[in-house]
Amino acid sequence: MDGNGRWAKKRLLPRVAGHVKGVELVREMVRACLERGIAYLTLFAFSSENWRRPQEEVSLLMQLFVKALEQEVEKLGRNGVRLRIVGDLSRFDPHLQELIRRAEEKTATNDRLVLTVAANYGGRWDIMQAVNRLAGAEPDRAGNWAEADIEPYLAMSYAPEPDLFIRTGGEERISNFLLWQLAYTELHFTPTLWPDFNKAEFDKAIASFQKRERRFGRTSEQLTETPNA
Ligand code: IPE
Ligand code: MG
Repeated sequence: MDGNGRWAKKRLLPRVAGHVKGVELVREMVRACLERGIAYLTLFAFSSENWRRPQEEVSLLMQLFVKALEQEVEKLGRNGVRLRIVGDLSRFDPHLQELIRRAEEKTATNDRLVLTVAANYGGRWDIMQAVNRLAGAEPDRAGNWAEADIEPYLAMSYAPEPDLFIRTGGEERISNFLLWQLAYTELHFTPTLWPDFNKAEFDKAIASFQKRERRFGRTSEQLTETPNA
């Protein structure tokens, strides 16, 4: 969700106004996923690198996060949304950590849409915490671990790998998002700033995804000849 600051700047507003508008867009995209029967939506809200921003902006982002948790969880619950927060939560204020814990608990039995918010998240952090936990659990097999061994320890082990990745705001990079899980994900980049993103743009991204051929390393011929191979 990139481009909040530039959106605000274009309107001569403080950056935080862009973040406020950005939260509105989150609401709209959650509705869009519910309408379209999409089962998993994962949003990169705050990266482990975002702490480097001016202290005032970081603290306003935290306040917005708290406010959203206080105000939205009830409604998410009513709409069958399960909320999960992934990332190194230990760096957050204890009050925020408690709100997160309660929000996850309150929505734990919902299964219409799993909404994951990545907060103080980094893809490298995720791989390292998984490796370290695996090392703690199975030290004797070190040196012989396979890909499938690490997967249960990744922060999003409860979700399938993403089909589609969308980055708004014009930059064309992953910026340390779900590094392990994006291996075969289709990437979609748009210059539209996050606060200007909307359902029509979302549908365009989905349509471009549907036109792509996902070969997972196979040849095009293999896919048409043996669809289930
Ligand atoms: C993304 O918008 C939102 C967060 C990182 C919280 P930015 O704040 O990165 O907006 P730009 O890139 O400065 O426009
Ligand atoms: Mg940015």
